[in-house]
Parts: sequence; structure tokens; C-alpha cells
Amino acid sequence: MMRVALGVSGGVAAYKAAELVRRLQQEKLAVQVIMTRVAQEFVAPLTFAALTGEKVITGLFSENQGDANLESAIEHIAVAQRIDLLVIAPATADILAKLANGIADDFLTTLYLATKAPVIVAPAMNVNMWEHAATQQNLQMLRARGVRVVQPDEGYLACGMVGTGRLASTEAIASAICDVLGLKHDLEGMKIVITAGPTVEDVDPVRVLTNRSSGKMGYALADAASRRGAHVTLISGPTELRAPNEIDWLPVRSTEEMHRAILDHAKDAHAVIMAAAVSDYRPAAAAAQKIKRSEGKLMLELEPTADILAELGREKSAQVLVGFAAETDHVAENARRKLAAKGADMIVANDVTQEGAGFDTDTNVVTLFLRNGEEIALPKMSKFDVANRILDRVLALRKGAQ
Ligand code: CTP
Repeated sequence: MMRVALGVSGGVAAYKAAELVRRLQQEKLAVQVIMTRVAQEFVAPLTFAALTGEKVITGLFSENQGDANLESAIEHIAVAQRIDLLVIAPATADILAKLANGIADDFLTTLYLATKAPVIVAPAMNVNMWEHAATQQNLQMLRARGVRVVQPDEGYLACGMVGTGRLASTEAIASAICDVLGLKHDLEGMKIVITAGPTVEDVDPVRVLTNRSSGKMGYALADAASRRGAHVTLISGPTELRAPNEIDWLPVRSTEEMHRAILDHAKDAHAVIMAAAVSDYRPAAAAAQKIKRSEGKLMLELEPTADILAELGREKSAQVLVGFAAETDHVAENARRKLAAKGADMIVANDVTQEGAGFDTDTNVVTLFLRNGEEIALPKMSKFDVANRILDRVLALRKGAQ
């Protein structure tokens, strides 16, 4: 989960930072709030603690702990290293001056110096303070250092004057944040059905046929697609994983249950991504009672299950269809064969015997095989990043099909 430090400095607009916290949570960002001393005169830290469920940093180093200890003394370094972005909203003229001059006299200003994460400031102040050469020069210096400034709006200011100085809208600040963090909303309006995890076929009331899929790749796809604005239905075999709230999560067990769930949901989907490791066979008849040990060999008769992907491939129109191929040998050959045989637009193939690519890992090494003959070998990366690369392609294929 990406983590944003939200610095709140002392101004009437401090209360608007609460709305910003909510907005960032919609983007599934974890928010750590840091308040300057004066900000606490305007809004109680408890407001932010309640919204974020996290301790609000209010003091200078150990001040908020009561007793000084090593942990609190180095807390700003720990926060500095953990965050993906520092946002200061509202940023007063005073804090901008401190940042510009490298003054580090409280937690927030020290964090600014200690972090290597990108920094965004959203100033809010009286119009004369905003227009003052000192403030403008400070902003220029900060911009030159790569700090992104979200321009304040024009309008009625708390001091009764009219002019530039109102904190930019929550949407404008959120959009700058998404931009810097590379959070896209390019899948908005798209309905995507994703399958994940293993399937489980009963042999008898005690024993099952299943496989080693952890579901991580499918869940990463669902998470990434949902963050990018898609409406996601995640049809999942039994896994240890939890789906985020925004996702329609449908737990299933057997291939047959998965098959039915997909038929119900795939019809109006713009894309179906079959990341599940579906069983190709199931016992021809599950025994009603536990199979007893006996002398000699035991033959288990298996019958083929429905090939869900191939069925979708036969029926599909403009829908983008993505399959996976987890292989132990002849990866490219098998992937190309599956691409054609299943009528998919893309096959995501990996060699599960390769280091960093197998079951239950957080990384994957895949090659994307496309209908037009393109083959894109991706380096080892997190399953979340792989998910985004796959979704980039899904989006391009969707645009091509429209
Ligand atoms: N798949 C499916 N229904 C099945 C089996 C597989 O929809 N009954 C899907 C998987 O979700 C995956 C793709 O088909 O996206 C390829 O699965 P895989 O097991 O690799 O391919 P198979 O066709 O089963 O080929 P093989 O077992 O020979 O490797």
C-alpha cells in the first residue's frame, strides 16, 4: 500500500485537510498525518487520528511521547523512509519560508529535509502574504528544487479579503497527488471479471484434488484494476487472501462453480482475465463416504472439466480475453498454442520453475503473448506491477476493439 505523509500547518484551511484524508483513502493510500503546533489550535489531532486510524504526529521528535527514547528520536527518519510522498496542505507562508531555507525546527520541517520522497505543497494564506515577494521567492526556490505547488484559488478569504490565497480544491490537490504517484484512472467505465486462486474438486467428503495456486496474481490484478477505476468482479477459489471492499468478490470452490459464476458475470464484461489455476479434471463421481483403505491399487476415474477460457473464446465478440499459462517447460510453444486454441487475445505465460516466478511468491516473471504476434518479455517485478502491465495491454486491446 502506498503511503502519504500529510503535513497540516496552521491556518483556517486546516479543517479542509480532513476532507483530503478521505479523498486519499478513496485512492487506497495510507495517510500519516503530521500537524504543526499552530495547526492543532485550528483542528484537534483526534479528528485525523479517527479518520486515519493512526497516531497523528503532533510534536517535535519525542515531545508527543512524553519521555524521550531512541525510537521517538529517530521517528522522523523512519517516517521519511516509509513514505511515497509528502504533501503539505494547507501550507502557510511560514512553513514555505522554513522549507525554502532548510529550517528544521519541528517534525514536519525536519521530515521535509529527511525524506527523498516527492513533495507537494498546497499553500493557503491571505492574499497580501501570497503576493509578497518573500513568499513568491520561497515558492520559486521550492519549485526549482522539484517541489510541486498546487496553486491556491481566488475567492473570499477567511480574513474578509478577496483574492488569491484560498486552499486549492480537494480534487485539485488529490489530482496532483495521483499524478505524482502515477495513479491512473484510465479503466473507468470498464467492467472486468477476474478469476483467481485454485479450484478444489472433492474426491470424497475428506479428500480433495487441488493445486498450489495462492491467488496472489489474480488478487493483484483485481486490486490494480480497481485502483485504476474499473468495476471488478473477482471470482476466487479458496485462498488466504482478502479482496478490497470495492471489489465484487465471489468465492467459489470447484471448477463447475467457477464456470457458473463466470457465465453469470462475463456477458456484459469488457474484459475477462482468467488468472485462476483451474482444474482440468475432477473425479467422475465424488464418493459419498470416505474411501477406505484396502489391499492393492486404487483407481480414481477422472473426467474433464469445462475449459472455461476456451468457451469464452468461442463466444466472445468485442470482449478482451486474457488467459494465463503456468508452465514447467516449453513455455513459449505452449503459450502460443494456448493463445490460438483458446481464442484469447493475450496469454500471460510464466515458467513456474524459475526463481521469483512460482506459486505463492510476491514477484513474477512473465511474457505476454499477443494475437498480433507480439511477445513481450517482462523482467522480474512485483505481481502488482505485472498486473498493471497486463492491464495496460488490456486497455490498448479494448481501445483497438472499439
Ligand atoms: N482454464 C480454464 N478452464 C479450465 C482450465 C484452464 O478456463 N478447465 C484457463 C486457465 O484459467 C488459464 C488458461 O485456461 O487462463 C490456461 O490454463 P492451463 O491449465 O495452463 O491450460 P490447459 O488448457 O489446461 O493446458 P495444459 O493443462 O495442457 O497445460
